[in-house]
Amino acid sequence: MSFRRILVTSALPYANGPIHLGHLVEYIQTDIWVRFQRLMGHRCVYVCADDTHGTAIMMRARQENTDEVSLINATQLQHMDDFSAFDVQFDHYGSTNSPANRELCGEIWRALRSSGMIREKEVTQLYDPQEKVFLADRFVKGTCPSCRAPDQYGDNCDKCGATYSPTDLIDPISALSGARPELRSASHLFVELEKLHAFLDQWTQEGDHLQAEVANYLKGHFLGQPLRDWDVSRPSPYFGFEIPDSPGNYWYVWFDAPIGYMAATKEWCEREKEDFDQWWKNPDTEIHHFIGKDITYFHTLFWPGMLKVAGFQLPTKIHIHGFLTVGGEKMSKSKGTFVRAATYLEHLDPAYLRYYYASKLGPRLEDLDLGLDEFVNRVNAELQNKVINLASRSARFLEASGLSVRYPEDGGRFEKGAQVGLEIAACYEQCDYGRAIRLIMELADEANAFVDLRAPWKLKKDPQQAQELQDVCTIAVNLFRQLAIYLAPVVPRLAQQVGELLNDPIWSWEQARQPLTGKALRTFQHLMKPVDPTKVQAMIESSKESNAASVPVPAIADSGQPLIDEPLCEMISIDDFTKVDLRVARVLAAEEVPEARKLIKLTLGLGGDVTRTVFAGIKQAYEPSRLTGRLVIVVANLAPRQMKFGLR
Ligand code: 2FM
Ligand code: ZN
Repeated sequence: MSFRRILVTSALPYANGPIHLGHLVEYIQTDIWVRFQRLMGHRCVYVCADDTHGTAIMMRARQENTDEVSLINATQLQHMDDFSAFDVQFDHYGSTNSPANRELCGEIWRALRSSGMIREKEVTQLYDPQEKVFLADRFVKGTCPSCRAPDQYGDNCDKCGATYSPTDLIDPISALSGARPELRSASHLFVELEKLHAFLDQWTQEGDHLQAEVANYLKGHFLGQPLRDWDVSRPSPYFGFEIPDSPGNYWYVWFDAPIGYMAATKEWCEREKEDFDQWWKNPDTEIHHFIGKDITYFHTLFWPGMLKVAGFQLPTKIHIHGFLTVGGEKMSKSKGTFVRAATYLEHLDPAYLRYYYASKLGPRLEDLDLGLDEFVNRVNAELQNKVINLASRSARFLEASGLSVRYPEDGGRFEKGAQVGLEIAACYEQCDYGRAIRLIMELADEANAFVDLRAPWKLKKDPQQAQELQDVCTIAVNLFRQLAIYLAPVVPRLAQQVGELLNDPIWSWEQARQPLTGKALRTFQHLMKPVDPTKVQAMIESSKESNAASVPVPAIADSGQPLIDEPLCEMISIDDFTKVDLRVARVLAAEEVPEARKLIKLTLGLGGDVTRTVFAGIKQAYEPSRLTGRLVIVVANLAPRQMKFGLR
């Protein structure tokens, strides 16, 4: 086997809030992959950092009457504590507000400037005269220009789904201060991404850098048309790095955040006396980023573009995962399903969550659902009853004798486990942890069936059967150890305990190919408690409390993505609902309405000869030519009304 040099990152969490169970999907996913690579004997370095810049952090510091640096330092410590409690083990955890990051931002910036990719344009934005800041879309609220629903954000309406710019809102107010915003213009610096179109076409569509669905999404949504210029500067005041050749302007948080991956590597290199260029300029080094689907755009277009221009290595692979839902719904503060890492830890063992997430994670972008009953049942039925119990049913009988000196005849069981190990390894490599766990559980079932059949507790009663007892338990303990090795990336503490029990630390995947013999065992101690469902409930209850106690700046990322979404909808009665005639219709024709910013005119077939013409406010999301033939849901009995562009 050839050994690989691999650099791994997870997305940098914002420094304006605590780590929660949604974040942990990604950090646990990444940490499992890293631990797996190390078990395979590869050189794998895992770095991350806090993402510290931007308006949200600046506003939070103001609100908490502190300065940004104190705020981000305190948050960084909390984040590091949470990660380490969940056994997410970074080689280095930095901050984007670091000298190393400033320096690397400067280097990449100079490369962009000298390749003629930066241009200056005037941008008119809403400005909060009270807080004296320009307002990102999500920091403005007002009445929807389309349906007149009050209290809508500046980019789209929760009620009617219309998308617009914040300047279209009726009666806008600043979500920060409640003041009426003013229109102000300022000059911004843009990266002309279109100049990299050919490169990005090739990089995203060829090779194995992206999951197939991501490559298709980029092709369908962005690469089929000219790429828009990317606004990478923000005028003062802004918490970030001032642009050296543009005083009074700062790099937008999304410019310096991914460079934070490099800065964290650099700090690690300085500490470990490693050569930075070996990690970011050497084609033999693999670079793997793990991210959530909401930040695909930044990582698959801007980031490779920046690296390309500045002459750094491009990512080998960007592994993108879906969101966490709880009980099939978005995490909700009021329902107590928005659970902070720290709250979880007050009630439950982190190994449970690592195991549960692993059992549900696949290589695609599907959302991962945390079903609370399923969580209890799965961890108890699989990790407890199938794996841990295997040891408690066999290891205790070896306390006096130790393992047999020769590995006994086991009907090919251990060898079969070693073979399946190849398949399990392939699943880990491809991030198909769910399948890896299924394969491990199948082996666990077979090992338990063996123990049921040979019943060591019966052998124990007959002194004549002492050798048979030792042999049966030697087989069972070896099958158990094989499972512990395969589960080591997921539940590393368990693997460590098993190593201690058997006086033989688990450190390599290869150990699963060779049975252990002739070893004395330590006294068996119970390895893990089952999940107590009342503690799960207690965690939900205390999540309700801890969230009610804090009223932070709106939980909004600077990318405009709400960190958590509470449904803001007006309820309708069942009588209202039964009046609505919902039908599936096929789009027969779709055409632009050139004079309208948002509308597409659709001719829909409702079955037979019945057709309807509707205007849909979806122009910003769909190309008309790609709608023909698709199925849509239509309200077949919506009364027609005269619109500016026709009857709908
Ligand atoms: O979406 C987020 O939470 C961002 N803080 C992720 C940044 S990842 C990277 F680019 F730095
Ligand atoms: Zn609306």
